[in-house]
Amino acid sequence: MSTVISVPPQQLLERILTLEIVRVTERAAVSAARLRGHGNEKGADQAAVDAMRRELNKMPIEGTIVIGEGERDEAPMLFIGEKVGINAGPKVDIAVDPLEGTTLCAKDMPGSIATMAMADGGTLLHAPDVYMDKIAIGPGYPKHLVDLDAPPAENIARLAKAKGVPMTAITALVLDRPRHAALIAAIRATGAALRLISDGDVAGVIHTADPDNTGVDIYLGTGGAPEGVLAAAALRCIGGQMYTRLILDSHEKRNRAESMGVSDPNFVYAVEDMVKGDCLFAATGVTDGSMLSGVKFRKDNVIQTDTVVMRSVTGTVRYIKADHRQLEKFHLD
Ligand code: FBP
Repeated sequence: MSTVISVPPQQLLERILTLEIVRVTERAAVSAARLRGHGNEKGADQAAVDAMRRELNKMPIEGTIVIGEGERDEAPMLFIGEKVGINAGPKVDIAVDPLEGTTLCAKDMPGSIATMAMADGGTLLHAPDVYMDKIAIGPGYPKHLVDLDAPPAENIARLAKAKGVPMTAITALVLDRPRHAALIAAIRATGAALRLISDGDVAGVIHTADPDNTGVDIYLGTGGAPEGVLAAAALRCIGGQMYTRLILDSHEKRNRAESMGVSDPNFVYAVEDMVKGDCLFAATGVTDGSMLSGVKFRKDNVIQTDTVVMRSVTGTVRYIKADHRQLEKFHLD
């Protein structure tokens, strides 16, 4: 006797959308990669935005961009509030960063990616494009082991104790910025190792989720709030803790945040506050990086992409290497 296993309609759709969002980040990555190393940050970003928008508008969703290229008046495309999809299907919130690490792409340096996340409508934090204080560690530790407001030395000591290693065996990842001078000095004083990155803290935070392979135990510092929400979507899928706070250091920023629904400007967000429901996350490498390979344009017109896609319902993480043979043709529709 055969058993029929039924999958709830919402979950079935999500399973289908898992592959669809791969197409979106693949196309954005390929378009950006054509301008890799050309010193044209804006051009590469625009190419990624165009491609991502085109693909999003083919999807069977009623999507709203909640993390995008900026507010309507400053971003002609993929602006916050823009509707995407074929206007039929589930209502979803979408966070995009069509080219994360524009400088990395323009200089053909490692680590730029095209990335997006999707979640049920109303479940992603609507974060303005401001800075955000962030701290992230991998899975398997007690909740609130680290504290956004504790000194770096204390957080590193707590993590080292929980991991059962000396502080010198901990590696912290930090964006290399003058604003982080005190943070970097405080981490150095603990004896922990520091991995400094010039850009790309979505991938930076994701690195903490797999310390055995990435060698990164903790992320600390301030980066973009939109990037924080994207990273939170990935952590919602693969586990790990992240605590953040929007940096709303002017009336203008506080008002903007308030108009997006942020009632408490000092609120410390955990992953579940930034991504309240089930979600999907995908990223495709633009330039080579430690997480993903960059796009390869082969002599035989085959274009190769490397994508990671995650789904929170099951925690499945798939790495999809694709050979594209007719991308140009399908760009035209
Ligand atoms: P862009 O792709 O928009 O240039 O962002 C790159 C990035 O490094 C992010 O990963 C990070 O969150 C943010 O910039 C940090 O901002 P800043 O460069 O102003 O320190």
